[in-house]
Amino acid sequence: EKGGFDWFMRKEIYDQPKAVADTLLGRHDASGALRLDEIRIAPEELRAVDKIIVIACGTSFYAGMVAKYAIEHWTRIPCEVELASEFRYRDPIVGPTTLVVSISQSGETADTLMAIRHAREQKAKVLAICNTNGSTIPRESDAVIYTHAGPEIGVASTKGFLTQLVACYLLGLYLAQVRGTKFSDEIALLIDELDKIPAAIERQLGDLDGVLQLAADFADAPSVLFLGRHVGYPVALEGALKLKELAYIHAEGFAAGELKHGPIALIEDQLPVFVVMPPPGRDLVHDKVISNIQEIRARGARTIVLAEEGDEVAAPYADVMITLPKVPTLLQPLVAIVPLQVFACELATRKGHDVDQPRNLAKSVTVE
Ligand code: F6R
Repeated sequence: EKGGFDWFMRKEIYDQPKAVADTLLGRHDASGALRLDEIRIAPEELRAVDKIIVIACGTSFYAGMVAKYAIEHWTRIPCEVELASEFRYRDPIVGPTTLVVSISQSGETADTLMAIRHAREQKAKVLAICNTNGSTIPRESDAVIYTHAGPEIGVASTKGFLTQLVACYLLGLYLAQVRGTKFSDEIALLIDELDKIPAAIERQLGDLDGVLQLAADFADAPSVLFLGRHVGYPVALEGALKLKELAYIHAEGFAAGELKHGPIALIEDQLPVFVVMPPPGRDLVHDKVISNIQEIRARGARTIVLAEEGDEVAAPYADVMITLPKVPTLLQPLVAIVPLQVFACELATRKGHDVDQPRNLAKSVTVE
């Protein structure tokens, strides 16, 4: 069943090109127009939406953080993202023109379920992004976009996360199409870029020696930090979560811009720090992240820089460089997270941990 792999998780990491392709399949026509009839919320209702709230837990929450960047940029609809466990306890402002998007791989997470029940009581429309057909959350939602990752057995989410990202991008572009906030040729171009992602991940998975070596080098590190900006920030958080869950190592993800507001005090000699570089070019944040790397290197940290291939500026600042395929900025999480998943899986394997069943964790968390 593990298809020759030692762990389900490793198999699921290698399943990702297919999982992404399957989630895109049949959702657009040859001209690049989106076909999301399954949404079952009428276009007039989607045009009336004046606020989106994404609710989820854990890894799915980080997919939601990425969704916020994409949805606001493409649709100009204000979008919040909130931990499901916090949502209903703060008297959130929700009504008939609010679209609540719940993201859950299992479809059974109690925190998320309670949050959508609360939202529906306030007459909000609830759209679920879910990987499990017929599970409770999609059954209790007004609409659902299924991710087609196939069953995810490893407790730590991998292909679940990637396909959630794809579903969020599809939703954002669909809203842009319905509301006319993007030209159809721009949407078609982004769909085309999404269609290229499976091949890009396939290439990454064929070239992992550097990441495997890192796991060997850092097997005894007591703590590992992850920095990112813009959509690289949720990638940093997810990279840290994978390492905590699987390798039981203290790990933290930060928004790189926050470094100077406190976390820089943690930087010391030999500390491994992963930095997710935004693509170079028009992005002003690229330079700012370069300065962050200089600051942490000056304090003796070991920098592992994930940067787009051909990023000549970042290369000299990296102790170790991991190159990422060239993709549009908003889609970068799809390729940036892959080496971090492999790193966590490999490091946990080296430590002799049960990668598929980490201690204290369950695949679906059905209690609040
Ligand atoms: C992390 C992980 C968890 C889940 C979270 C939500 O690897 O698997 O953080 O993402 O428990 O689960 P779902 O998506 O099933 O609601």
